[in-house]
Amino acid sequence: MALKGVVLAGGMGSRLHPLTRVTNKHLLPIYDEPMVYYPIRALVEAGVRDIMVVTGGESAGHFLQLLGNGDAFGLEHLEYGYQKGAGGIAEALGLTRYFVGDDDLVVILGDNILENPITGAVQRYREQRSGARILLKKVHDPGRFGVAEIDAQGRVIGIEEKPKQPKTDLAVIGVYMYDNSVYSVVDGLKRSDRGELEITDVNNAYLRRGDLHAEEIEGWWTDAGTFESLHLANRLVRDLRISRRG
Ligand code: DAU
Repeated sequence: MALKGVVLAGGMGSRLHPLTRVTNKHLLPIYDEPMVYYPIRALVEAGVRDIMVVTGGESAGHFLQLLGNGDAFGLEHLEYGYQKGAGGIAEALGLTRYFVGDDDLVVILGDNILENPITGAVQRYREQRSGARILLKKVHDPGRFGVAEIDAQGRVIGIEEKPKQPKTDLAVIGVYMYDNSVYSVVDGLKRSDRGELEITDVNNAYLRRGDLHAEEIEGWWTDAGTFESLHLANRLVRDLRISRRG
């Protein structure tokens, strides 16, 4: 089965007001490139070349102007989707079903930035063939994220979204791999207290079926959805560029 790529770049970015009052969060700069370049490149580097960008809000047209057919990434085509409002990550994911068809998919959140390529994890998902695969990273502020609880063997036994009292310091990062049954999982979701279809509920559905695999990533990872994490992402990318220039 082919693996398609999805970049989710909708949402209101309300935690970054006024920066995101007249533009979309994913068009803001991370050092020398717009934020959305990073997740697209992560997919392309992992060998995923059939990619859809889901966006929303007033400045959705700017994505077409910026990204076009994806030639900055060596692509010949990019697919676009539009999410009205900000009904959640899983809602945005549901909008990709016609693009994905019968294939499997790698999803990456448009504000997630990683030090290292995700090539190895994507390869392991290809070998896994079905179910879901999530990536974990130890963080100092787990309460901001989906948090994985693990048993003595290191297996994930539960995921909580933004818990007040996190059971571990293992954040579920915004890179998810799913088989095609993800769309029936999305169809069965109920809105959370914050009115969103939650990606954590999708991952817990796979977990209940015994079909969720997880691995911890090496190297740094950050989101860029708050002033602190946006600043950190800029600093980390700048340091990385400078160190690679040698
Ligand atoms: O960054 C990883 C975290 O992302 C995970 O650990 C959490 O489990 C997951 O819920 C998410 O948490 P956030 O609260 O940080 O997500 P946020 O609302 O900032 O959305 C992250 C990206 O998802 C955003 O940059 C674009 C996309 N998105 C989000 C929403 C709410 C959409 O495309 N549509 C949406 O409606």
